[in-house]
Amino acid sequence: MALVIPKHALLFFTIAMAAAGMARASDPDILSDFILPPNTTSNLAINGTYFTYSGLRPVIEIGSIPAFTAIKATAAEFPALSGQSVSFAALLYPSGSVNPPHTHPRSAELLFLASGYLEVGFVDTTNKLYTQTLQAGDMFVFPKGLLHYQYCSSSRGPAIAISAFGSASAGTVSVPGGVFTSGIDVGILAKSFKTDAATIEKLKAGLAPK
Ligand SMILES: *[C@@H]1O[C@H](CO)[C@@H](O)[C@H](O)[C@H]1NC(C)=O
Ligand SMILES: *[C@@H]1O[C@H](CO)[C@@H](O)[C@H](O)[C@H]1NC(C)=O
Repeated sequence: MALVIPKHALLFFTIAMAAAGMARASDPDILSDFILPPNTTSNLAINGTYFTYSGLRPVIEIGSIPAFTAIKATAAEFPALSGQSVSFAALLYPSGSVNPPHTHPRSAELLFLASGYLEVGFVDTTNKLYTQTLQAGDMFVFPKGLLHYQYCSSSRGPAIAISAFGSASAGTVSVPGGVFTSGIDVGILAKSFKTDAATIEKLKAGLAPK
């Protein structure tokens, strides 16, 4: 007698395999020591300069900055990171500045506070909020894909942090940007937030580039 696999069992199996794949997801492994720059066919054409990035030098001698600033060192700015599953961002917070709620779809974020104090928080998939006030020398991990923010209090600023990511391109989805300035229909947003179109327009106006 032929083996009959019920349809729903196959469906369950497919979903389970997909879920296992997602749980493993990170940057794909490369089959070479590193990724060469575009149009380069051999490592004879490169040297240590390719593996060096000096774009974070300003962080060391930073004066005062007017607004929250993130200086990234991801595969986009530093191509040698391609395929290496690592990247950095330097985060500079003047007093009273916020890095608004956002997520990184492809990596956890490990933040090291190099100077000052920083209020941080993230929200898990049950909408539970986890917060902490960090002091210089502390680390905080924002789990992969979860909504999070940082705030530098006006009484205890400024602050400087360095964040490490387990992806060469962790990606950032900003809540204010993604929700209010991406072009989603105002009526849909009003319904989603159980408010009126005028309130949504006011939020959009506040986020428009000045
Ligand atoms: C690579 O080569 C193509 C065509 O040969 C050229 O159009 C392109 O500009 C080159 N890219 C770089 C980064 O040199
Ligand atoms: C590495 O190569 C670059 C050109 O791509 C060159 O300017 C630089 O001097 C070289 N550095 C060393 C240490 O050889």
